[in-house]
Amino acid sequence: MLRLPISVLVSTLLLVSTEIVIDGFVTITHAQQAKQAAIRLASGDHKEGYESPQYQTDSLSLEVRSGVEANLFAIVNTAQFGLPKKAEGRFLEPSEPAIKLGRKLFFDRRLSRNKTMSCAMCHIPEQGFTNNELQRPIGFEGRAIKRNAPTILNVVYYQRLFADARENRLEQQVWGPLLASNEMNNPSVGQVIDTLAQLPEYPKLFEDAFGEMPNMLNVGQALAQYQQALLAGNSRFDQWRYGRQQDVLNAEEKEGFALFAGKAQCSSCHIVGDEYALFTDQALHDTGVGYQVSMRPETTTISVQLAPGVVGQLDKSVVDSVGEDKPNDVGRYEVTLDPADRWKYRTASLRNIALTAPYMHNGTFASLESVVRFYNAGGVPHDGQSALIRPLGLSADEQAALVAFMRTLTGSNVGELVADAFAAPIGDTSSTSR
Ligand code: HEC
Ligand code: HEC
Repeated sequence: MLRLPISVLVSTLLLVSTEIVIDGFVTITHAQQAKQAAIRLASGDHKEGYESPQYQTDSLSLEVRSGVEANLFAIVNTAQFGLPKKAEGRFLEPSEPAIKLGRKLFFDRRLSRNKTMSCAMCHIPEQGFTNNELQRPIGFEGRAIKRNAPTILNVVYYQRLFADARENRLEQQVWGPLLASNEMNNPSVGQVIDTLAQLPEYPKLFEDAFGEMPNMLNVGQALAQYQQALLAGNSRFDQWRYGRQQDVLNAEEKEGFALFAGKAQCSSCHIVGDEYALFTDQALHDTGVGYQVSMRPETTTISVQLAPGVVGQLDKSVVDSVGEDKPNDVGRYEVTLDPADRWKYRTASLRNIALTAPYMHNGTFASLESVVRFYNAGGVPHDGQSALIRPLGLSADEQAALVAFMRTLTGSNVGELVADAFAAPIGDTSSTSR
């Protein structure tokens, strides 16, 4: 049952798009729904059965990627079940021209030193605004990044950014990837500003959005404006818990939530409130994941799948001779240099978790089932591991129920945000006018 389904406003005549607003909660138009049905929220090629010689690709053709522009300004201004009101978040005052500009910047490959890499190439829209295919994404000229790419959906609600919480605002964060030598590899802030000022279409867009030419501050603000509009709540779980629609979840999913908040104690860290749920306590914990990687004995051979059905065993020393050393990762310690912070990582939100595999700061788990197995076993006991991570004694059915519950956390408008991303200009050198 919706709380107040009375004030239904169909703005057919006022807007080109027939958006339906029910008591402040946006639903999408029929035309958008049809278009979104064609959009698969997954990686280009599913790779199921890839190990078999009979494997058939089901990669989508580029035509399927034609998108539908969404009204991001309306999305950022509209309440969604399960998400806090804007005032309780960390939002810049939304501005339509700034959102559009930020969206263009996010997809613009000319923002990297050799004009190949955009933000969206690691935060891939149809892969939950993360990268489903790599534990750790690849940046400039094939250089690996130390950590898994997190989703950008709902990112504005994090009080501190990155797995080690080293940054605190989206406007500042953008200069990390723009300048990092293994990400977009720009030599300096000035170089990025000059590039933007010299491209034909940007000066006017910056003037329209900020009344000034591009500078260090407004580049960050524009990208933050786009990212803060990527709100994806109103999941089936939210409709059940905050919309009080009893039948939206089935018995297994409801049991999964009962375990999440009860016997398994997941909600001690992945917090679910009375009015909304961010599924994070915004704090950092040692769950055992980082310890396990640092302390796990190294394997001597590596299986490399070369083609469907063709796997080669390579000596690790051969791989090491051509690859980079695996970077050490000790989490929050790298920021504070306090030994008590070793292997502590920020509690990740679980919103849209079904779309954002692989999991954890290093992408070590490929599936939600393996995450739950890890927690059920009690992590990797060692000094410093959170006392909340302990053997849970969950049966196979209970573990399956926890996973089923986590799969209810996908926002109802993710398809709309992805369709919008597909409609964005990609800004390579051959499309300077878009
Ligand atoms: C080469 C891949 C790559 C590119 C390009 C890239 N990112 Fe990221 N992004 C990452 C990884 C990996 C992390 C996590 C790093 C960490 O936690 O230490 C991250 C983290 C973030 C976060 C923090 C999310 C959180 O949960 O705290 C934001 C926001 C973000 N990126 C936005 C951007 C923007 C904006 C751009 C373009 C200017 C961009 N990224 C370009 C890989 C990339
Ligand atoms: C002590 C606090 C704590 C408890 C209890 C806890 N988690 Fe977590 N959870 C975390 C932290 C911290 C991370 C991030 C770890 C990392 O990146 O290495 C995380 C990450 C995850 C992720 C991966 C998120 C992503 O985007 O990669 C999932 C899924 C998850 N937890 C589910 C659960 C479930 C299910 C339970 C209960 C069985 C649970 N958690 C209990 C703190 C906790």
